Amino acid sequence: SKGGYDHFMIKEINEQPNGVKETLVRRLDENRNIKLDNINLTKEDLDKINKVYIVACGTAYHAGLVGRYAIEKFAKIPVETDVASEFRYRDPFVDENTLLIVVSQSGETADTLAALREAKSKGARILAITNVVGSSISREADDVFYTWAGPEIAVASTKAYTTQLVSLYMIALDMAMKKGTITQEFYNQVINDLENIPSKIEEILNNSDEIEKIAEEIKEAKNAFYIGRGLDYYVAMEGALKIKEISYMHAEAFAAGELKHGTIALIEENIPVVAIASQGSLFEKMVSNMEEVKARGAYVIAVAQEGNKEVEKAADRVIYIPKVNDILASILTVIPLQLLSYYVSVKRGCDVDKPRNLAKSVTVE
Ligand code: F6R
Repeated sequence: SKGGYDHFMIKEINEQPNGVKETLVRRLDENRNIKLDNINLTKEDLDKINKVYIVACGTAYHAGLVGRYAIEKFAKIPVETDVASEFRYRDPFVDENTLLIVVSQSGETADTLAALREAKSKGARILAITNVVGSSISREADDVFYTWAGPEIAVASTKAYTTQLVSLYMIALDMAMKKGTITQEFYNQVINDLENIPSKIEEILNNSDEIEKIAEEIKEAKNAFYIGRGLDYYVAMEGALKIKEISYMHAEAFAAGELKHGTIALIEENIPVVAIASQGSLFEKMVSNMEEVKARGAYVIAVAQEGNKEVEKAADRVIYIPKVNDILASILTVIPLQLLSYYVSVKRGCDVDKPRNLAKSVTVE
C-alpha cells in the first residue's frame, strides 16, 4: 500500500532516511566497526586483487560511478565502472585477480547477471550489492551485501540508489581499513558523517514545497540540462535519467567542463540547467560554468551546500542541502533531483509509478 502517499515513488523517496539508516546499522557492530558477516574478503584476498570492476545498469550504474570514486579514494585500488551491456561485449581484462562488484536492486537484471557469469567463468571474485534476498544475482555471487531499502515498487529507482551508495561507501571503508590506506581517525569521521546522513535527508524532504515550486516553473520545458563536476557529475547523470523516465522531458547530463567543447551551443533562452555544486574544490569552477550558461539565457537551478551563498550570483534558484562531508554529498544532492522529477511528472500528468515502455526489472538482454 502507498501508506497515505499519492504514489509509490514519493513514498519511497520519503523512506530514504530509514533505508540509509538500516543499511548502515545492520553492518556496524557495537564498536562501530564494519561487520561483513557472510562477506569473506580478507586482507590477503584484497592484496591479490589488482583490479575492481563495478558493473550495473541504469541507476545502479550511476551508483557504481560514485562507488568507483570512493574505492579509489579510500582503498587506493584502481576501479573501472561500466554498464553491464557494454562490459560484456568489450572482452574486458578479467582474471582471478579481479574483483567484480555488481550492483542491482532487483538482482534479476539480465545484462548484469550475464556479466557476473562471464567474469566468474574467468575466475573473478564476485561481490553483489542487491536489494532482493534470494535473487539470481545474490545466489550466483561469491559474496552479497544487501541494501536495506525495503521493497521498491515504483519503476523509477530512488531508495535503492541511496542505499547502494551507502553500501559502496562501507565496502570502500572496509577495504581501506584492511589495506591500511586510511587511518582509524578518518574511518571514525566518515562513519560519523554517514550516521548523520538520515537526518540531513529528512531536512531536505521537509523543504519539498520549495522544490515543487521550481517544478511548476520548469514543467513546460522541452529540454533540460544537468551539469556537475566530479561526484556531482555522476549525480547529474542520475537526475537527468530520473526526469526523462518519469516525466518524458528530454534531459542530458554534462560534465560541466565539457560544456565549452560543444554542448554549450544548445543553451538557449529559458532552458533549465540544473547545476550541482556541492564539491568544495570544484566550487569556483562550477560557479563559472553556471555564469557561462546563465549569460546565454539559461534558467539556472543550483544545488549547493548551505553557506555557499556565492552560487546565488550565478543562479535563478538555489536549493541548499545541509553541510556535509564532500565525499558523501551525492547521498544528499540526489534527493532534490528525485523530488524535482517527481513533481514535474505529476504536473505533466504522467503515470509516475509506471512510466510508459518501462518495466521494473529488465530480464531480457
Ligand atoms: C531507473 C531504474 C533503472 C534500473 C536498472 C537496473 O530509475 O530504475 O535504470 O536502475 O534497470 O535495475 P537493477 O538495479 O534492478 O539491476
